Amino acid sequence: MSQETQRFTITAALPYTNGPIHIGHLAGVYVPADIYARYQRLLGNDVAFICGSDEHGVPITIKAKNEGVSPQDIVDKYHAIIKKSFEDFGITFDNYSRTTAKIHHDTAQEFFKTLYDKNEFVEEVTEQLFDEEANQFLADRFVTGTCPKCGNEEAYGDQCESCGSSLNATDLINPKSAITGNVPTLKKTKHWFLPLNKHEQFLKDWILKGHKKDWKPNVYGQVKSWIDDGLRPRAVTRDLDWGIPVPVPGGEGKVLYVWFDAPIGYISATKEWAAREGKNWEDYWKDENTKLVHFIGKDNIVFHCIIFPSMLKAEGSFILPDNVPANEFLNLEGNKLSTSKNWAVWLPDYLEDFPNQQDVLRYALTANAPETKDNDFTWKDFQARNNNELVAIFGNFINRVVVLTNKYYDGVVPEASDFSEVDKETLAAVKAYPSVIESSIERYRFREASQELMNLARLGNKYLADEEPWKLVKTDEARTKTIMFVALQIASALATLSEPFLPFTSEKLRNILMLSSEEVNMQWRDIATKDILIASGHQIGKGELLFSKIEDDTIQKQLDKLEANKKANEAAKKQAEPQKATIDFEDFTKLDLRVGTILEAEKMPKTKKLLVLKVDTGIDVRTIVSGIAESFTPEEVVGKQVTVLVNLAPRALRGVESQGMILMTESMEGKLVFVKPDTTVKNGLQIS
Ligand code: 2FM
Ligand code: ZN
Repeated sequence: MSQETQRFTITAALPYTNGPIHIGHLAGVYVPADIYARYQRLLGNDVAFICGSDEHGVPITIKAKNEGVSPQDIVDKYHAIIKKSFEDFGITFDNYSRTTAKIHHDTAQEFFKTLYDKNEFVEEVTEQLFDEEANQFLADRFVTGTCPKCGNEEAYGDQCESCGSSLNATDLINPKSAITGNVPTLKKTKHWFLPLNKHEQFLKDWILKGHKKDWKPNVYGQVKSWIDDGLRPRAVTRDLDWGIPVPVPGGEGKVLYVWFDAPIGYISATKEWAAREGKNWEDYWKDENTKLVHFIGKDNIVFHCIIFPSMLKAEGSFILPDNVPANEFLNLEGNKLSTSKNWAVWLPDYLEDFPNQQDVLRYALTANAPETKDNDFTWKDFQARNNNELVAIFGNFINRVVVLTNKYYDGVVPEASDFSEVDKETLAAVKAYPSVIESSIERYRFREASQELMNLARLGNKYLADEEPWKLVKTDEARTKTIMFVALQIASALATLSEPFLPFTSEKLRNILMLSSEEVNMQWRDIATKDILIASGHQIGKGELLFSKIEDDTIQKQLDKLEANKKANEAAKKQAEPQKATIDFEDFTKLDLRVGTILEAEKMPKTKKLLVLKVDTGIDVRTIVSGIAESFTPEEVVGKQVTVLVNLAPRALRGVESQGMILMTESMEGKLVFVKPDTTVKNGLQIS
């Protein structure tokens, strides 16, 4: 390692393998982490970018139980899906491991044993929540209840997702088993506790008095308030059968708490990588000169800023994080992203609908990242970022440069003659961009950094628009050549500086510009120091469009898909209603049900739900007001045969008398559908 080279261990939160990943994960953790890792590599720094699947914990066992398969089946399935999504989106982990790997079990057990041997745990028999029916202790997500801090009624046994507090299951008010719904009893069991109270002073000195004031305010603020509240011991073992066995006497039948083993996953994944690459893993975890940076979402702050550092400190030989740039949450079209409600854009689905457009999503998520507050992803914003920025600015500039260079000079970079003042200013501005973008990235402001990158493309566009080489080409050959030379330098700078943000585009651009291997390996700061980024006489290739316009109907399809997903999910979740009270046969015969045909339909003015129908019941043609306008347009229902309860007492709806009722139910997709004979029959026939 040369003197100026800085070593970095960059980690990204290990995703739980109980489902695929969605745009919230990408925006909150993996895209910023990847930008940072790529940027550090472009600076020439020594980077270990580490992640892996978090394969233990209660959500995985719950999912396995619901699907009637083993937890191992679940984690194998989603590990493969998630790993592929990361590869597809160009997330350049040096190692993507998994916590079911042997090296991880060994590393986590060894870590536990070291703390045990150093007497860093408190071993205690306490009363824990127990589900008698399931014959199981209830911890973490096996139990829900009211959060004692904020009153959220759906807090989990280890954490409240509403206020972010970390909890012990016995803190919950009105706890309820997530397995049976029963109220738990209390049962004695032995566990090992990490006495966080013992580490309070260290945390105060390290975070509050130390240099951590430069941490993002959302992170620093949360951590400060927890420390100020006072810390309590936390159990780091569980009575479960899925997890890493507790490796000390008395630990039989118990496993490590998932949040004890998961962050150790960063270490074991580094070990696995180092062994493969012939490196020394300890350089990345035990050398004070190494910078450890954890990229996480805000729900993980307590674990990365309080619990894991306390574990590392207690162990004694590890470095502590230099920064924990946690992001807030991304919402989708105004609502919280939710796996259970299927309110999400899943990465495999995105790629199916937008093949080869990974950079568009990376860019839209970065430009609108939830860095300082929760933010909203909307498909309209995605479209605007693509059409107004990537296509109209970045793509347009490159296209003009490439097309004109081919048209005027058969693709050969021309000689520049005297630079004008504008040329000099433009070239100087280009040289300033690495440090402008750098200053944003170093402060973990990736939104700002992405906008600065776009400003460089803007600068190129403006330069061409002002200098108008397409006009001068007829009159001033030398000046035209100089302008195109300058424009090509900007294009070349964009090829390097866009790499962390738009890696696929950057690669395409390098290919279009046919950069030599030396130029391809251009480093970040070369843009600031080199006078020539692409030399006169160099042959470039033919253009291909970097981005293409996204039309309104493509966006509408995504919005429709979201709405359909949500409805289908709600419908699938609907439980059959309990049976109503028994009725006599006489009661049934009182119902006069007939087949009829809808002849006319129109919307009831000033209502959302009501259609006014004219129905031929075979007895007469009558008016029926039906609440189906959200599922059907008037045109769709005309001519449809339906079932009508004809002897229902008439009643007035919004001043229109409704003389009967049309029978409806719901489709699997949650849409209203007519209940009707399965072939066309004569109107007026009775249903009995
Ligand atoms: O919140 C989550 O998705 C966790 N699986 C993150 C774990 S991060 C780490 F410490 F491993
Ligand atoms: Zn709470």
